[in-house]
Amino acid sequence: MNAVVVRATSGSVPQLVASATALFAEDGGQRDPWMDLTWPRREGSAYFADLLHRDDSLCLLAFSASGSAIGHLIGRIRRPDPLRPGAVVGVLESLRVDTAHRGIGVGTALAEEFFAWARESGANQLSVTAYAANESAISFYRSRGFAPFELTLHAPL
Ligand SMILES: CC(C)(COP(=O)(O)OP(=O)(O)OC[C@H]1O[C@@H](n2cnc3c(N)ncnc32)[C@H](O)[C@@H]1OP(=O)(O)O)[C@@H](O)C(=O)NCCC(=O)NCCS
Repeated sequence: MNAVVVRATSGSVPQLVASATALFAEDGGQRDPWMDLTWPRREGSAYFADLLHRDDSLCLLAFSASGSAIGHLIGRIRRPDPLRPGAVVGVLESLRVDTAHRGIGVGTALAEEFFAWARESGANQLSVTAYAANESAISFYRSRGFAPFELTLHAPL
């Protein structure tokens, strides 16, 4: 893999917004008619700028050898849940790699950095949510140790 993974800085918020915008269009935009595809452009800058200052959040960017941003990952540590007091959950909130750079290990490098950060942050469990129709992402997560735990069912009304 000819890419580097780095922590995002305040100067790279626009690259996080651009990657999140592309993820919304490709993922929710194809799979959820209710998804607001304008959210990253409207709210993303403030949202990511806030995460960059938080100890419970991880913002990663992957860069190609030529210096272009080619992917991102957002991780969070979920606040303790009184119903599951012993669980400290590292949540993989968002992950995307540019189509032209998939299949060469960039997603794996981003995920491994997240796993290490979650462990160092005290997490004892990891979680990710994917659309049931996003088979390639689910396959990616399964290969890295994730297995279905809860299932959300929707019905039109
Ligand atoms: C899922 C995703 C992040 C994987 O990134 P990647 O850089 O292609 O992943 P890697 O090269 O490290 O690993 C490739 C693995 O992903 C699988 N894969 C999934 N989608 C793939 C794609 N479009 N192209 C190539 N490999 C893909 C491969 O089969 C391979 O699996 P293996 O490691 O078990 O053999 C990337 O496909 C992506 O951005 N998908 C669209 C956005 C998305 O669905 N994000 C997740 C939302 S929950």
